Amino acid sequence: MNMKKWNARLSLLTVVLLLIHEGYQLYAYTAMYYNPVLSKVTGYAVAVAMGLHAILSIISVFVLHDAKRITYKKLNLKTVLQRVSAVLIVLLLPIHILSFGLLKSSVGGVGYILTETAQILFYAALFCHIVLSFSNAFVTLGILSDMRKKRILDIFVAVVCVILFIAVSVIITSAHSMMFKG
Ligand code: HEM
Repeated sequence: MNMKKWNARLSLLTVVLLLIHEGYQLYAYTAMYYNPVLSKVTGYAVAVAMGLHAILSIISVFVLHDAKRITYKKLNLKTVLQRVSAVLIVLLLPIHILSFGLLKSSVGGVGYILTETAQILFYAALFCHIVLSFSNAFVTLGILSDMRKKRILDIFVAVVCVILFIAVSVIITSAHSMMFKG
């Protein structure tokens, strides 16, 4: 069993689950149709896949030192940002999960602004991690070896992630301000 390949498959599954969760949340917030079961099921599916991916990544990088054997994993700025964004995702995930209650109980206060700021930072960390990592998963799986194609895929993913980041930040924070501030 090649753990790096399983981690790459799992990370791609996490991206798909994240898109489903986020697509549903964006639909719910724009159509003002909210189904708490769908929201929780899609959300916890992402969290479980992400938790497993985080465990395999930590083992792969810090225990097996696998990263050193792969040329694209030189400890450059991209790798540092990939790991910093991963740590931020883990730290901010509890705030993201508890955000509804935190916002509700802090309307008009500094806690409200801090919670929304933490949410936007969480989205930024998620998309930053995906932009820096997505094409690497295809390299790990042996599907992508041409560096020109990898760059094109990186640019495509970056454009999609910037659009999603803006959509999520604007739609969700403005819907919150309508819901909580009347
Ligand atoms: C929705 C959340 C996440 C998504 C979609 C995601 C996606 C990915 C993808 C596609 C890769 C490339 C895999 C490869 O190089 O073969 C990757 C690598 C990595 N991810 Fe994530 N990730 C997420 C969350 C996390 C979290 C929470 C951590 C915390 C530990 C993390 C840590 C890492 C590390 C350390 C690597 C590099 C692994 C290596 O070099 O072998 N990721 N991620």
